[in-house]
Amino acid sequence: MNTVIYKLNETNIDMDLIKKIGLVLREGGLVAFPTETVYGIGANALNGEAILNIYKAKGRPSDNPLIVHIDDINHLSKYAKEINEDAKKLMNEFWPGPLTLIFKKTKLIPDTISGGLDTVAIRIPSNKIARYIIKEAKVPIAAPSANISGRPSPTAAKHVIEDLYNKVDIIVDGGNTNIGLESTVLDVTDAIPVILRPGGVTKSMIEKVIGKVNIDDSLINKELVPKSPGMKYKHYAPKGSLIVVSGDEEKVVNKINEWVKEKEKEGYSVGVIATTETSKHYKCKNIEIIGDKHNHNQIAANLFNVLRKMDENNIDYIYSQAFSEEDIGMAIMNRLMKAAGNKKITI
Ligand code: TXA
Ligand code: MG
Repeated sequence: MNTVIYKLNETNIDMDLIKKIGLVLREGGLVAFPTETVYGIGANALNGEAILNIYKAKGRPSDNPLIVHIDDINHLSKYAKEINEDAKKLMNEFWPGPLTLIFKKTKLIPDTISGGLDTVAIRIPSNKIARYIIKEAKVPIAAPSANISGRPSPTAAKHVIEDLYNKVDIIVDGGNTNIGLESTVLDVTDAIPVILRPGGVTKSMIEKVIGKVNIDDSLINKELVPKSPGMKYKHYAPKGSLIVVSGDEEKVVNKINEWVKEKEKEGYSVGVIATTETSKHYKCKNIEIIGDKHNHNQIAANLFNVLRKMDENNIDYIYSQAFSEEDIGMAIMNRLMKAAGNKKITI
């Protein structure tokens, strides 16, 4: 398959091009496009064959369901049922935006999307390119992150090109994504909603709107099987071995410097993920600065790019300090720990 790359600018959208892209989607093609979270690989959610092509292109296990993206809340009841008051309040507050809700599904949703579950994940993205593409497709769009399964999610078109060139019909280059981590996934089918995947819309933001919210036990106890199928796979992982180190910052830096020296002596290439503040204290050839210590949004936006850079530089061992779990920090640490296969050392 030959991939065509189109550049689009969110502030000055070429509607003729959007119409063309929408048509390719409606007719069963695969299109990768930016959202405010990460790039997605989209297909017509009502076309079973197109859905299977997404799984093939990504090498994704078939039991891992996809998120259906819509552009208008009025279309929701075609695909979701038993929409309760909490869900309505949340949609009112956070849509369009990085919140995915799990509902009971209607018959219109093909089984291939929902991995055999009786539920469906739905969100309205806020990125204008994404919204217009979905609108012009005139069908709901199933879109997982546009990476090969298991690799860090793409936050720039070049990441999508690395993973999916010649596996999709179109890649839309709309620049870097704002948030950089995938949407929060919230199951609203229970009396008390449950966060299955932390993201840009945080627990406290949700609680301000609807009161008590639970967190899927597996997010806290890594031994348990997650309720969201996608969360059970090793994910977001760079090729090198990543180790997260937590504890007093000065001690963490010293310990990482010790390990870097050891591994470099053994002939490995070693990388360190640093904040702007700690970067000057590390002694390592490959230091990637992820952002300012207190700027969690910046850290979130850079995480996947930094992990991919480690791959570009063929790093064997990557060390990262742990980050704050406050607000979007919960999502940052969730992705970082998954990338590390849960290897964390506390000193
Ligand atoms: O920000 C995002 O959500 C991006 C952009 C492209 O919208 N999409 C994304 O999709 O991250 P994906 O497929 O990479 O992750 C979807 C997550 C997976 O963990 C999947 O298991 C979960 O949502 N999921 C989907 N449908 C579900 C369902 N019915 N029940 C429970 N979890 C579900
Ligand atoms: Mg994904």
